[in-house]
Amino acid sequence: MPEEGRTPHISSSAQNTRLRTRDRLVVCIAIGLVALSAFWALREPPSSRLTAGDAAFPTLTPETIPLVTGDEPIVDIFTRSGCPVCHLIPGIPGANGQVGPPLWLGTTGRGRLSDPTYHGNATTVHEYIVESVLEPQQFIVHGYPEHTMPAWYGSKLSALALEKIASYLEHQEEENLAPEK
Ligand code: HEC
Repeated sequence: MPEEGRTPHISSSAQNTRLRTRDRLVVCIAIGLVALSAFWALREPPSSRLTAGDAAFPTLTPETIPLVTGDEPIVDIFTRSGCPVCHLIPGIPGANGQVGPPLWLGTTGRGRLSDPTYHGNATTVHEYIVESVLEPQQFIVHGYPEHTMPAWYGSKLSALALEKIASYLEHQEEENLAPEK
């Protein structure tokens, strides 16, 4: 009887040890997999995942855009505001966005003002650009999505920054396109 009671006891504790070893192995594999997937996810910096075709732009909010005073070089005025994410802008490195229209308003501006569906208040291309940034809902460029151009730039761009943006864009022509694109 004690013999019988002992044998199962020993064998079950041996089984426990084996189970524990197996558990430990499973845990190790699980940790390994988690570490591997974390490594995979962090491999690319998040900023490089923000591509032009991506319509979500979770990082482009009033909180993530700094105040732009207008004292910055023109390239910084555009890049800090995040315009290159959505727009192609001649002469601005990396500004190859495809979400909105190319910002060569020297070529396209007049056509916007004479468009029969334009009912905004601008009378010059310069005014049209300022209006497009401050009140994008005034006119939606045909073939592009509405409610996509941020409507909060008025709280982020100084009057000087807006002036510089408009003065720059109204002189951009389609043929000024950088050869790389
Ligand atoms: C999240 C994407 C997005 C960002 C960021 C963005 N825009 Fe736009 N923008 C659009 C879209 C889409 C349109 C076209 C639809 C419309 O008219 O609202 C547009 C339209 C415009 C137009 C009118 C263009 C035309 O051909 O008539 C101007 C000017 C403009 N944006 C300037 C800017 C400037 C300057 C900035 C940065 C300060 C900026 N946008 C940032 C998406 C964006």
